[in-house]
Amino acid sequence: MSIQTKVDQIIKNLGSISIQDFIEISNFDSEGFYNAENDDKISIKGHFITSPEITPLFGYTVCNQFLEKFPNPKKVHLLELGPGNGTLTQDVINFLRSHHISISQITLIEKSIYFQKKLAAKFSNKVNIYESPSQIDQKNDEILFIYSNEFFDAIGSKQFIYKKGAFYEIAITKDQNLYKLIYQHSLLSDFLKEYYCSYDFKDGDILEHSNLIINILEEIKINLNGSFFFSATDYGYKKISKKNSLRLISNHEKVNFFEQFENVDYSFGVNFELINSFFINFKPIISTQKDLINNFLPKQFQNTNNEETLKAIELIKGKKFDDMGGSFYNISFYKK
Ligand SMILES: C[S@@+](CC[C@H](N)C(=O)[O-])C[C@H]1O[C@@H](n2cnc3c(N)ncnc32)[C@H](O)[C@@H]1O
Repeated sequence: MSIQTKVDQIIKNLGSISIQDFIEISNFDSEGFYNAENDDKISIKGHFITSPEITPLFGYTVCNQFLEKFPNPKKVHLLELGPGNGTLTQDVINFLRSHHISISQITLIEKSIYFQKKLAAKFSNKVNIYESPSQIDQKNDEILFIYSNEFFDAIGSKQFIYKKGAFYEIAITKDQNLYKLIYQHSLLSDFLKEYYCSYDFKDGDILEHSNLIINILEEIKINLNGSFFFSATDYGYKKISKKNSLRLISNHEKVNFFEQFENVDYSFGVNFELINSFFINFKPIISTQKDLINNFLPKQFQNTNNEETLKAIELIKGKKFDDMGGSFYNISFYKK
């Protein structure tokens, strides 16, 4: 059944569907963007491209960022959040092995059944593939190296509009065969006013609040008992944006809401302020992706004359990662 038919059925039965539910269905239903069998998703031939799919230099940079804090790690447990094709983990493995660093375990947290199968085939079942960070099993002698690229921006978020002292949840309904957005009274309004009390919301401001991201951050936090290094790169903002940050991409082009329902990737700008506050005890550092590359790309690639390499570096430092009203940022923190 098509995504549009499923959405229509929900609207017919319940009157409306929340933005978060709509996006979770569009991304993760069996026919949704990340699960449909029919497609090359993250590649030049697919719908969008990511830094690890452009060049292994992105993965090498993240490894170098890790090695700066843990110069001689004995046993490293790799943990990638949302690996998709698994390219970043393959690059990390190659880089660490070339530095004679022992990898004791590889854990991949991947929700898409399509990608789970692809990862099991790619790594010949030598990896743990889980759906949730709560399943991580770090041994006492391991350093947990957690990394992700464009993971948090693929997770659904609720959207609320602020009006006259209350937050109303934004939902989708259908009126005379046309889709439209409506604002519904929400039981979460008082909770949200308390949770975001340090911000000054004005009428018409949008709040994006993802309980799904908060659950994942909580699961990660519970597991940070031993030594670890965490590095996440994502599209988002450093200060809460109070705007709609939802992006729709299909065939490498932006599409408008309701323009098409099938083969669309939906993503939200990530609230780095929230991630920062979650892990504040570990004193996180937030930098732009450009600075991440400038600071941690291994020296031998910074000093290269090779045109291909220079082009790849420019791409992952470049405009693609610094437009559409936001930027790509990296957040990192660790405990020894
Ligand atoms: C935008 S893609 C990025 C893939 C890859 N990291 C890259 O850079 O090419 C987002 C990935 O996160 C996965 N994902 C999204 N939400 C997830 C969740 N709640 N748990 C686990 N994986 C999730 C998706 O299935 C997809 O593989």
